[in-house]
Amino acid sequence: MLNVAILGPGGIAEDQHAPAVAGHPKTQLWSVLSRSQDRASNFASKFGLISPTPTYTNLAELLRDPNVHAVIVASPDRLHAEQVVACAEAGKHVLLEKPMATSLAECDQMIQACQNNDVVLAMAYHLRWHAGHRKVQSMVQSGEIGKLRHCRTHWTFAAQDDSNWRSAPETGRWWSLAANGTHCLDLTRWMFSPSEGEIVDVRTIISRSKFKSRHDETALVMLQFESGATAEICVSVQFSSESRIEIYGDSGSIRMESTMGRHGRGEIFHDDLSRGAKSLFFEPANPFHGELNDFIESIETRRSPEVNAAEGRRNVELLLQAIEGSDADSY
Ligand SMILES: NC(=O)c1ccc[n+]([C@@H]2O[C@H](COP(=O)([O-])OP(=O)(O)OC[C@H]3O[C@@H](n4cnc5c(N)ncnc54)[C@H](OP(=O)(O)O)[C@@H]3O)[C@@H](O)[C@H]2O)c1
Repeated sequence: MLNVAILGPGGIAEDQHAPAVAGHPKTQLWSVLSRSQDRASNFASKFGLISPTPTYTNLAELLRDPNVHAVIVASPDRLHAEQVVACAEAGKHVLLEKPMATSLAECDQMIQACQNNDVVLAMAYHLRWHAGHRKVQSMVQSGEIGKLRHCRTHWTFAAQDDSNWRSAPETGRWWSLAANGTHCLDLTRWMFSPSEGEIVDVRTIISRSKFKSRHDETALVMLQFESGATAEICVSVQFSSESRIEIYGDSGSIRMESTMGRHGRGEIFHDDLSRGAKSLFFEPANPFHGELNDFIESIETRRSPEVNAAEGRRNVELLLQAIEGSDADSY
């Protein structure tokens, strides 16, 4: 049994990671780190944490427990690097929420610490385990819509105000780009890889017009791959809408409606340019289960996790390029 500790008993941990770990036959929820003893205790009793000492407000103390085998880091982005390095130095495997960190130097420290201590570092891009996304990725990479030309992703939500930690420099580096954009970048690269090569050009328009916050509220990112294929990403915290991914090739297109999010559902349409768009069947599955399975298997077999640290680092590099020179990059 793999004993898993959680750092940051917030939204994503409570909603997805804790139920996934508690329900998996090879894992059990062992302990939790919170800044508040009360929040840690509530989390421990809600999910039935197994350790005789399940709650911590100090990371070093949690990591001293030899029965902790793996850690899920689900804290604000600025905290990732310090926490992951501490986990690695304590010999714990890490499943890390996206984005990996807020600078490339931090990414390099984390990669080095995990290599030095021979622990797995897996990135939690759960949308790669959406059953429909997996089907589409394999279709487009096997040439079913011909040579790939363009991808468009659109994913927004309406924040009520700018109180989220992503809008504060002490805890975040990007807002819309860290909430949704990092997933869109990961999906775009994955869908177009390896056939179209790497992303070689990144250009962005950023708006901070609604909340006048420090970070990107809307980001329109344009990308070009080595092959010449292009992509657009629209992410925003200013307005809500249905998510959409469109992929265009020489002999057809694929449209994914409302597939982004935590649910693993949505609708997908394939247009082969002869009979009009047809619905593409996939069996909805919880993407967080696939993500956890991959993490466990990478620990058991020592193969690279599906989204490894190098991919997490590349994503951060693209996020940094996306805000370079903008007024959301002024510090
Ligand atoms: N894969 C996905 O789709 C997805 C979705 C949402 C979030 N995420 C990622 O998961 C991580 C956590 O995001 P979240 O939405 O779960 O955030 P959240 O709801 O705010 O939870 C984060 C937790 O981190 C702890 N924390 C420690 N220091 C903090 C600080 N200075 N400010 C705020 N919280 C602090 C808090 O727990 P205590 O107050 O108990 O200490 C808080 O509950 C982020 O990296 C985020 O990008 C991923």
